Parts: sequence; structure tokens; C-alpha cells
Amino acid sequence: MTGYIGEFRNDGRREASDERLDAAAFHRNHAAIWTVLEKFLSGKTGDVLEAGSGTGQHVVFFARRSPDITWWPTDLNDHHLRSIAAWTAHEKLANVRPPQRLDLSNPWQLAEMNDCHGPRALLAVFCANVIHIAPWRVAEGLFAGAAHHLRPDGRLFLYGPFKRDGRHTAPSNEAFDASLRNNNPDWGVRDVDEVSTLAQQNGLTLTEITEMPANNLILAFERNQR
Ligand SMILES: C[S@@+](CC[C@H](N)C(=O)[O-])C[C@H]1O[C@@H](n2cnc3c(N)ncnc32)[C@H](O)[C@@H]1O
Repeated sequence: MTGYIGEFRNDGRREASDERLDAAAFHRNHAAIWTVLEKFLSGKTGDVLEAGSGTGQHVVFFARRSPDITWWPTDLNDHHLRSIAAWTAHEKLANVRPPQRLDLSNPWQLAEMNDCHGPRALLAVFCANVIHIAPWRVAEGLFAGAAHHLRPDGRLFLYGPFKRDGRHTAPSNEAFDASLRNNNPDWGVRDVDEVSTLAQQNGLTLTEITEMPANNLILAFERNQR
């Protein structure tokens, strides 16, 4: 887990006791991501779970713009969970629940959250920049969990860099992929097709691909029509 912490920094202007972390990438991607999520969430109510919330900056940004949605941030890393709690407290948002420890490689933990008054059937699951910085079993757990917990009209949104038809979409993504695999051979930029196949295995269909700045994509998945 420590590999991810280096991506975040404190801006140096805060009290030492302030546990809010700041991810440089958040400032570049949050507005573009919100335009996609907003199209789906606008006018709806319900629960949205964020998987691998990291600093917590996305969840508080999105929650401020969607007061009728209840947001459930989660992560595996205790350092990040404290940052999410600190951002939520700082923003004083009533529609963000306390962050929960959730290991995506164990999708059934979500069921345990339900037992302790966790989210009901989910309107959406949002996951940014996780499945390439984790072993494939994390993607498997994410899809199994989403398939189990999304409500019939729910959607899974996956943001990050992806290959298309086995090829990188930019030299920068190829270099990033090489550095990930160098760090851990089980990590790496995933191909849209392999993620789509995993979705199908879990009863979900890739219904929309949206191009994002800096050669990233948002993949949206829905339940298969019966
Ligand atoms: C690169 S960060 C992305 C954070 C945030 N989503 C963002 O885009 O800024 C990857 C996050 O995934 C989390 N993570 C890694 N493996 C995980 C797992 N098995 N279950 C849940 N979260 C995991 C890390 O703790 C980290 O917060």
C-alpha cells in the first residue's frame, strides 16, 4: 500500500494535525469526471459507493454537487481512510458517510457493510485509478461486488488509463504501464476488452466509453438486459 502514498502530498500550509492529503491528479481530472457522473446522477436519489477513494477529494467534490445522493467512501489504506475522514469533516457535508475499510479483493465485505447499516442497493459504484495499480483479483472483486450490490438501474463507473484492442492509446500510457509492471508484475494498464469480458462474466455490460483528458477513459457498465 505504501506505494500509493507517495502520489499524495500535503501542501505545507496546513496544521500538522490536518490529515487531509492532496493528490495532484485530482486537480486535473475531477471536473471532467463530474461531467460524466452528473449526467447519470442528476435528478436521482440513492447511495453511491466509491471504491479506492484515496485522499477523499473526489467524494467531497461530488457530494457537494449532489445533495440528494448519499456517498460512501471506502479504501484499504488506513492513512487514506484518515484523509477521507478529514476532508469530509473539513467540508462539513451531511451526505458523505464515514469512510469504510473495504478490500476490493474481498467483494463480500460489502455485504458485511450492509449488515451494519451500510448502503442499500447501490445507485452507482465509482472507482478511479485503482485496477491498474493492483493485482487483477482487485478488478475481479470490484466487478463481483458491483454486480451483487448495484440496483437494477445502477451503474459502475471506472476511470483511468486503458489499452484499446491490445494497444496503448498514448506513449505516456505505455511508459506508465512499464513503470507499474516494473514495480509489481501483477499491476499494469488494463485493456478495455479484458475489462469488458470480466464485466460480462459478472452479468454487467460495458455500455459507454467516454474519453477523458490526458488519455484516460471512463467506462460505464450496466446490468445485462434480461
Ligand atoms: C492511485 S490511488 C487512487 C485514489 C483515488 N481514487 C484517486 O483517483 O485519486 C489507488 C487507491 O486504491 C486503493 N487500493 C489499492 N488496492 C486496494 C484494494 N485491494 N481494495 C481497496 N482499495 C485499494 C489504494 O489504497 C489507493 O487509495
